[in-house]
Amino acid sequence: MSGAAVTCDGSRAMATEPPFNQLCCAKVRLSRTCHERKSATLPFMCGIVGYVGSRPALQIVLDGLRRLEYRGYDSAGVAVVDDNVILTEKRAGKLANLEKALGERAGDGIASGSTAIGHTRWATHGGPTDRNAHPHLSADGRVAVIHNGIIENFGRLRAELEATGVEFISDTDTECAAHLLAAEVRALREAGSELAGPQLLAEGMRRTVNRLEGAFTLLATDVAVPGAVVAARRNSPLVVGRGEGENFLASDVSAFIEHTREAIELGQDQIVLITPGAIEITDFAGADATGKEFHIDWDASAAEKGGYDYFMLKEIAEQPQAIADTLLGRLSERGEIVLDEVRLTDQDLRDVDKVFIIACGTAYHAGMVAKYAIEHWNRIPCEVELASEFRYRDPVLDRSTLVIAISQSGETMDTLMALRHAKEQKARVLAICNTNGSTIPRESDAVLYTHGGPEIAVASTKAFLTQLVACYLIGLHLAQIRGVMYADEVAAVVDRLRRTPDDLRDLLGQMEDVRALARDLRTASTVLFIGRHVGFPVALEGALKLKELAYMHAEGFAAGELKHGPIALIDEGTPVVCVVPSPAGRGVLRDKVVSNIQEVRARGARTIVIAEEGDNAVASYADHLISVPRTPTLLAPLMTTVPLQILACEIAAARGHDVDQPRNLAKSVTVE
Ligand code: F6R
Repeated sequence: MSGAAVTCDGSRAMATEPPFNQLCCAKVRLSRTCHERKSATLPFMCGIVGYVGSRPALQIVLDGLRRLEYRGYDSAGVAVVDDNVILTEKRAGKLANLEKALGERAGDGIASGSTAIGHTRWATHGGPTDRNAHPHLSADGRVAVIHNGIIENFGRLRAELEATGVEFISDTDTECAAHLLAAEVRALREAGSELAGPQLLAEGMRRTVNRLEGAFTLLATDVAVPGAVVAARRNSPLVVGRGEGENFLASDVSAFIEHTREAIELGQDQIVLITPGAIEITDFAGADATGKEFHIDWDASAAEKGGYDYFMLKEIAEQPQAIADTLLGRLSERGEIVLDEVRLTDQDLRDVDKVFIIACGTAYHAGMVAKYAIEHWNRIPCEVELASEFRYRDPVLDRSTLVIAISQSGETMDTLMALRHAKEQKARVLAICNTNGSTIPRESDAVLYTHGGPEIAVASTKAFLTQLVACYLIGLHLAQIRGVMYADEVAAVVDRLRRTPDDLRDLLGQMEDVRALARDLRTASTVLFIGRHVGFPVALEGALKLKELAYMHAEGFAAGELKHGPIALIDEGTPVVCVVPSPAGRGVLRDKVVSNIQEVRARGARTIVIAEEGDNAVASYADHLISVPRTPTLLAPLMTTVPLQILACEIAAARGHDVDQPRNLAKSVTVE
């Protein structure tokens, strides 16, 4: 046990202050070779819903798609099986376009059939047109397919199918899955297969997926098999909802939560056949398989806007609760931090001599904050790296390296590929994730789930704060197991964390000035953000939020770097948001930031200063002062980030943008 008392204010009760190491964390995305495609990549981050039961399926599927629209919103479509006919409707643009088209048709059974699949799409290839929207039908019109992922050998398959006379209608890879499935089902029938009905369809799907390379979730219906939907999953999310006399399939549980809270998470390379009364899971070889059953402990209202104008505002408001939930039950009676799934021994953690954090975007910023906490509490090196860069630079990893992968969705391809690279190098991997049963936690050696509930807005808010909490907990867990912090020191930090939800509620109640400021800033051409120590990642996060939501030029800088170049950007009236550290923690740090504020002011900047309540001296340097509750330095991002989230959200709204679904973005980035 080290003799130094370790605190959560970034300081140590030591005679001489240790040097500040300023590190960043990285995020990871998966990459994939699309050698058969002429364009570079074909990202699909789609939402998928399937239903079989006795109720009219169309409305159930449309409601589910509305909850999944965050996954993609370039086009949407449905296929309904009714009286031996498949009825489809699909439209480019948002779900509203599809609903309008459906409203204009009447009397053909599309609203009454009780088997349906639906899709909402995010595409960068093949164009978001009606023609490329899913579902895709086989040439004989018997089979309808929807798809999330990329079929990498699509070029070869398409050429093969075209050689047999199949005419393609769309530019998508999905269409070849529809033609293949129909051909496999037909071939089975013609060969006199003993299988019939749903089993025949499932066998056709098995034969089809065994010909596909790449990542996919596929859902299919067959005109000859009303009352069945078959699905297959490889490297792409799919969950099953178990109802009473009805069953559901979806990319995530929010699509069916108003109907059932009993769910099954499918494993890799599994096929599931749902009928009103049964759920049958097999693997790609045809052997019986099982999924992981779980109960969803949040309800449908959590997936609705709850009276707010935007999901983002609702999710910002939920942050106190999300933090409290993430902390719930984390301290055992013996004073030890409790993770959710641990397939590592204490000795594995004691052996850790280096930590890497990998993540993308906002989760990367959480990792940057984590670096300060982990190094401060553990005195071991911690590096933070963008997941998309990690594996390409051949990082030095071994058994004693702990890699922490942070991801809200648990499906971010860059992060997943970096994680797999780390595992290949024998490193231990610990995931911080908000999505139960998603790929990243499944492939990790240990998991700490952030209990933030569903995050629907594309821009991450409550996920960020809960990721910070998870990072603090992991830093403390490591320190405790490695014997560098006493249980009471850990408990003191956890206790302080437990007080942050109340502080945050107070802060959220005082955001009227920030809203007014946002309206004022809506015409700015550039907004700069500066901070030091943990305030630096907060500055980066503030700038990222503004870029992605308001489509404005925004940059975050380490305040000390300003004079090395970026200060030249400052012109008369340029808004500069300054994140000021607590004077109670590192006085010297706070004074340095105050000097930086003076430097930018002297060059005409309009300063928006975020400082701790009671730091009255800073007021004279602020054109706008935003006060946040007193918080120890390392934990301060839990407060200082929040006004920046609101600022970005309100500026975007004032500029007339879609706050929840900013252009060009999707919630889950499942391609590299
Ligand atoms: C920004 C944002 C993204 C995500 C990033 C990683 O507001 O949401 O930058 O943080 O795409 O996503 P996850 O956490 O799902 O891996």
